[in-house]
Amino acid sequence: MTVLIIGAAGQLGTELCLRSKVRGYDTVAVDYNELDLTNESSTQAFVAQVKPTVIINAAAYTAVDRAETEIASAFAVNRDGPLYLAKSCAKADIPLLHISTDYVFDGKKPTPYLETDTPNPQGVYGQSKLEGEIAVARTLNKYITLRTAWVFSATGNNFVRTILRLAKERDELSVVADQTGAPTWAGDIAEVLLEIVERIHQSKTITWGLYHYTGSPAITWHAFAETICQQAFELGILRKKPFIKPISSYEYPTAAKRPQNSALACALIQEEFLISQADWRKGLEQVLIQWKKNNEFST
Ligand SMILES: NC(=O)c1ccc[n+]([C@@H]2O[C@H](COP(=O)([O-])OP(=O)(O)OC[C@H]3O[C@@H](n4cnc5c(N)ncnc54)[C@H](OP(=O)(O)O)[C@@H]3O)[C@@H](O)[C@H]2O)c1
Repeated sequence: MTVLIIGAAGQLGTELCLRSKVRGYDTVAVDYNELDLTNESSTQAFVAQVKPTVIINAAAYTAVDRAETEIASAFAVNRDGPLYLAKSCAKADIPLLHISTDYVFDGKKPTPYLETDTPNPQGVYGQSKLEGEIAVARTLNKYITLRTAWVFSATGNNFVRTILRLAKERDELSVVADQTGAPTWAGDIAEVLLEIVERIHQSKTITWGLYHYTGSPAITWHAFAETICQQAFELGILRKKPFIKPISSYEYPTAAKRPQNSALACALIQEEFLISQADWRKGLEQVLIQWKKNNEFST
């Protein structure tokens, strides 16, 4: 069983590599330095050379605001890269596990989005990811596209790291309180993907297609920031909690418009794979404990 992980140095990629090895799979892990996904011939040649049993694509262009100006790069990585991988998988008759985003939706639905709801991305990142989903679905039968949201981990830059840095520096922070979504620990997403890999390994029947998976419960960015500071305070990473002022999206303009509600309904993956949503607060605790051990936020 050879698992090829693309985008291995990212938040999700790092967790996937660790956990794939722990599960005993032969794991081939590459990032941008070893394989540029936007190069079709090298991607196809690499897959043909490695001969994996399954590919997990954790690579993406994830700079949501920068994508508004770096449009070609966003589409190259998020649309063309998955297409080239899907073509390689089709040729080798192997499955592709691909990751997408809650930002394919416009956020106007008041309740959690289903896999069958119509996407309507509000920015370049969301559009490029949606086109990646479509390219995979059109090219390959054996694929899983997993839409997730608000990813955090101990590696890389993310909301948790930003809030902790600001909380160390300031007594008061302002955080948007009118956007709802579900924080998701990269460790939990990795476990979900590897559960599916295990099914492939055991040759179990799989209903291929599009699934939603996020942490639980859905909250606002403001409530997420409050929880981060509270947990960091309890673990002794913060000596005092800052006042976190709730503000509107209006007061915090960004290059890319974000969906107001991007909570994803995750019942389908539970039905098909018996995978339940993890409580992201447990994942957050893991991340904070790791940072504490590494003295990452000590003053
Ligand atoms: N982050 C979130 O909040 C979020 C939310 C919803 C969905 N998602 C999706 O979840 C998945 C994982 O996200 P993540 O947060 O783990 O992303 P990440 O930390 O930004 O990692 C992405 C990785 O892809 C690599 N990469 C970029 N361009 C590449 C290329 N041309 N060829 C090969 N590798 C390339 C990056 O390398 P460099 O760093 O060298 O560029 C990076 O290591 C993505 O599909 C993302 O769209 C993320």
